[in-house]
Amino acid sequence: MSLAIYPGSFDPITLGHMDVVQRAAAIFDRVTVAVLQNSSKSSLFTVEERMEMIRESVDGIDGVDVSSFNGLTVEYARNVQANAIVKGLRAVSDFESEFQQALFNRKLAPEITTVFLMTSFANVYLSSSLVKEVARFGGDVSFAVPQPVARRLKALALKGGGE
Ligand code: PNS
Repeated sequence: MSLAIYPGSFDPITLGHMDVVQRAAAIFDRVTVAVLQNSSKSSLFTVEERMEMIRESVDGIDGVDVSSFNGLTVEYARNVQANAIVKGLRAVSDFESEFQQALFNRKLAPEITTVFLMTSFANVYLSSSLVKEVARFGGDVSFAVPQPVARRLKALALKGGGE
């Protein structure tokens, strides 16, 4: 049985991420969307909130579950006996750092292969950070995120929160 992990910050999950989840689910028997806990980035949503939004968003996609992890991605992949790490690629700008990470990860864990999946053209410009910025200033981002995320961002904006 093939298992892929799809690691990331997902703060919050966007339709670009969802596109990658759907493509991965069509290739692997099981896909675990894995939220990094110990990120150096400051986040808008807690890990629990992010996992809940992802769970609601992937509901109905067969073979997909949600988890979180601490530490190295390859260590987590090993612990859950994943064969592959899935990463989404949007534009050439993503490539350099993804390429470095994939080679570093291969050195650390040669038995785990990084698989890059391209998002559809309609989603190439989406990023969690732009979604947060636009939402913070009251802009509508419902075209860019799954409905459970749009709902929470709207609630935060109404509260005047978002920091
Ligand atoms: O959504 P992001 O923030 O681009 O995801 C980056 C992530 C979480 C995949 C990456 O930072 C990562 O793998 N972090 C865990 C620590 C680790 O394994 N670092 C070594 C990478 S070579």
